[in-house]
Amino acid sequence: MRSHLLSIDSLSRAHVDHLMRVAARMEPIAQRRQVTRVLEGAVLGNLFFEASTRTRVSFNAAFCRLGGSVCDTTGFTFSSMAKGESLYDTSRVLSGYCDAIVMRHPDQGSVAEFAEATHVPVINGGDGPGEHPSQALLDFYTIDKEFTRLGKRLAGAHVLLTGDLKYGRTVHSLIKLLSLYDPMRFTLVSPPGLEMPSRVIDRVESLGHRVEQRESLAGDFSDVDVVYTTRIQRERFTEEMNENFGALSRDFSVDRSFIDDHCSDSTIVMHPLPRDSRPGANDLDVDLNGDPRLAIFRQTDNGIPVRMAIFATLLEVDDLVEKDLRPVRWFVPARLGVDDPAF
Ligand code: NCD
Repeated sequence: MRSHLLSIDSLSRAHVDHLMRVAARMEPIAQRRQVTRVLEGAVLGNLFFEASTRTRVSFNAAFCRLGGSVCDTTGFTFSSMAKGESLYDTSRVLSGYCDAIVMRHPDQGSVAEFAEATHVPVINGGDGPGEHPSQALLDFYTIDKEFTRLGKRLAGAHVLLTGDLKYGRTVHSLIKLLSLYDPMRFTLVSPPGLEMPSRVIDRVESLGHRVEQRESLAGDFSDVDVVYTTRIQRERFTEEMNENFGALSRDFSVDRSFIDDHCSDSTIVMHPLPRDSRPGANDLDVDLNGDPRLAIFRQTDNGIPVRMAIFATLLEVDDLVEKDLRPVRWFVPARLGVDDPAF
């Protein structure tokens, strides 16, 4: 991994394997059994110019769990970008205050432009419809952990990606990351007009993977290992698109009857979240809550060790963590969520 994490394009399989190993070493800290201070004194700048809950808070928490401190700013209104400040100036200014910077911004390519102006490590927390590499790393970590629990192998796995594959940046990064590994099968199902960009599909196919595009979720998916669902990114739609799409049919939503009738007992269901849980929304249904196949909250929990691994690697303390551990002294519940399965 070079000095920034901007796109999966800069990662090799060896980089990903290293990050996965470091993330596994972070588990006792992420699970609040041990404490480290390896980043004591370091400051993270967390700059979010688009809506975020889990990415912002989990980057923040991951840095704190390594012993560092965090300064953050949210939205354009309260930042000097509202006064016309350039990405170049903002980047140089923040570099004087912070030892690492996470940025989310609505324009594709903007985080890379910001990173060009600094030697301080920059992490892309999502650049418009572009990429979201840390989400792909935590998704991959989740798939690996779930497959180990289920006795499955990644090589030859069948992954169904569904929802808004055009504007959903998480799926762009995830399919690129998975395609660094041995040949797999991908089925892509999206409403017409929201298909995965062809440049991404071409690249995945050129690496020896099988990609099939379908227009509906009808049919047999019993050999699917992972169902990865995504939210329709209406905030990226033009007015014309909003009119054309109106109320999307429920044909693209994944719910308990889809999983029970079309998938198997060992299929896992993932989503980068947030999911739209309002009645009639075209998204992953809440009726799967409590089903052990629903991996979405294990996935969000995995954001902590993976983001800790990203910071530790970029700031070159990945080999120091194990030498610096102390036991936790406060109360931590054995299970976090009321519906969490006990594996
Ligand atoms: C996603 C994002 O912002 O790209 N959320 C996340 O970071 N986990 C997905 C989304 O907003 O739909």
